[in-house]
Amino acid sequence: MTHTLVVGAGQGIGRAVAVTLARSGHTLSLADVDADGLAETARRIDGAVTTRTLDIRDADAVAAAVADIEASTGPITALAHVAGVFGTGSILDSDDDQWRNIFDVNLFGLLNVVRAVGRTMRERRAGSIVVVGSNAAGVPRMSMGAYGSSKAAATMLTRILGLELAQYGIRANIVAPGSTDTAMQRSLWTDPTDDDGALGAITGDPAAYKVGIPLGRIADPADIADTVEFLLSERARHITMQSVYVDGGATLRA
Ligand SMILES: NC(=O)c1ccc[n+]([C@@H]2O[C@H](COP(=O)([O-])OP(=O)(O)OC[C@H]3O[C@@H](n4cnc5c(N)ncnc54)[C@H](O)[C@@H]3O)[C@@H](O)[C@H]2O)c1
Repeated sequence: MTHTLVVGAGQGIGRAVAVTLARSGHTLSLADVDADGLAETARRIDGAVTTRTLDIRDADAVAAAVADIEASTGPITALAHVAGVFGTGSILDSDDDQWRNIFDVNLFGLLNVVRAVGRTMRERRAGSIVVVGSNAAGVPRMSMGAYGSSKAAATMLTRILGLELAQYGIRANIVAPGSTDTAMQRSLWTDPTDDDGALGAITGDPAAYKVGIPLGRIADPADIADTVEFLLSERARHITMQSVYVDGGATLRA
């Protein structure tokens, strides 16, 4: 049995990951700070899922949640860590609280989760971890100093975790999405309800030194979820410490 913990399953990419993994036969435990979102995700899945409201910034709460989930549903054999927050602002003029909030979730929240789950996987010498990063980790983007650097740190944390855990047969990889149709992406659009908002990402913005998306579309959350599912699976058994960009070519893999 693959028992997978999906962290950040309350909406968007995390919800798509949960739905995709359920279809692939994973037994699921879902966590998110948003209880209503979690309930909605659980509703979209056939069969039993465990849900847990959890703020990943709280290390003790994360450790307690992992212990409870294992006690009730059994050992966690796979982790999909998707939770993240976004914000924009110039490096010189943005405020410190925004930087702290982004790093508290995207880096220290991730650290809390991989520590709690990784320790139990290490004891059992088995497991697979996928962390959802961002293509903004690999290419400088205007106004994304805090977000991009938090994702670059999260990426290297995950790759080094993969190095530390390889001796136990545990893999750790990153999926780095580009623009993906979720609430987080739509928060960047002038009108979040207008599908044409994606055109800006698709065509790019030379004034901001941003190329467009060569494949001519933004991602559907399911595109990201399929890659997460593959990397967690035994089909990827010889892949670890990698960052797989799922961005339609947007970074030209810079
Ligand atoms: N949508 C995009 O275009 C895009 C692009 C690149 C990377 N990403 C990354 O993909 C991941 C998912 O993004 P999304 O677009 O689905 O965003 P989203 O805002 O739709 O969903 C993020 C989820 O994380 C949860 N979360 C936030 N803070 C939390 C906390 N402290 N504890 C527990 N859960 C928390 C939220 O409640 C939410 O359910 C993020 O890590 C994001 O940085 C998204």
